[in-house]
Amino acid sequence: MKYLIANWKMNSVDIDVWEQEFINVVSSQNNFPKSDEVKLIVCLNLYDYTVFSKKIKNSKNEIFNKISLFTQDVSQYDDGAFTGQISSKFLKKVGVEGSIIGHSELRENGDTENIVFEKGLRLNEQGLSNIFCIGEGLEILENNKKKPFLLNQLQTFCKDNISPGLLAYEPIWAIGSGKEADSENISSAVSIILDFFEEKKIDCPILYGGSVSKSNIEEIISIPGIDGCLVGNSSLDGEQFAIIASKIKS
Ligand code: PGA
Repeated sequence: MKYLIANWKMNSVDIDVWEQEFINVVSSQNNFPKSDEVKLIVCLNLYDYTVFSKKIKNSKNEIFNKISLFTQDVSQYDDGAFTGQISSKFLKKVGVEGSIIGHSELRENGDTENIVFEKGLRLNEQGLSNIFCIGEGLEILENNKKKPFLLNQLQTFCKDNISPGLLAYEPIWAIGSGKEADSENISSAVSIILDFFEEKKIDCPILYGGSVSKSNIEEIISIPGIDGCLVGNSSLDGEQFAIIASKIKS
């Protein structure tokens, strides 16, 4: 099974248009991957969630019908006076399947390793899944500190029965830059992560994220150990996202 995740971030997406563009691509291809070959997940805000989840329920398209919906963040707290935050209890109540945690755009805004762990705990308590993001900045890469940096991110998170549902390796310098990481860099991250998983007996798909597009998806997905991709910009357009999905086969 391969995984393809859309991260819409705070972008405005016209969901009617997105659905139509997506379905046009799916219907025009005889060999579009089946839902047991590629798992599609869209990460959106809660307002879009209510609109999208209704569309999924009402759609007659089998592929569109199987899209899973996640949010992009969750509160580290259980309940209480935390203005503007959304708890895992609330996500559970509305029917969201899980959330991204540890995205670099949130880490830049103050999410420490410990906060990311707490968010993982809150999701776990509600039986919700997580897409755990890790990745080094340029300075760390250039100073040859990538391995200890990634290991620290993994170690702080994978404890007390918490482990990633899906692990996304997203080097910060590749996010939104239009310049994906080269295969050597992705492979070295995969081997650091796989060694760690083996030691901890964790079985979890590894995804790559950072400037994935319809032009580089085939190359990235062919890297050994990569089970899928997390897509930002190129997921805002239903056609682009479906084309990327069409190029992934398990
Ligand atoms: P990008 O975003 O595909 O626009 O680089 C990826 C991400 O932030 O998850």
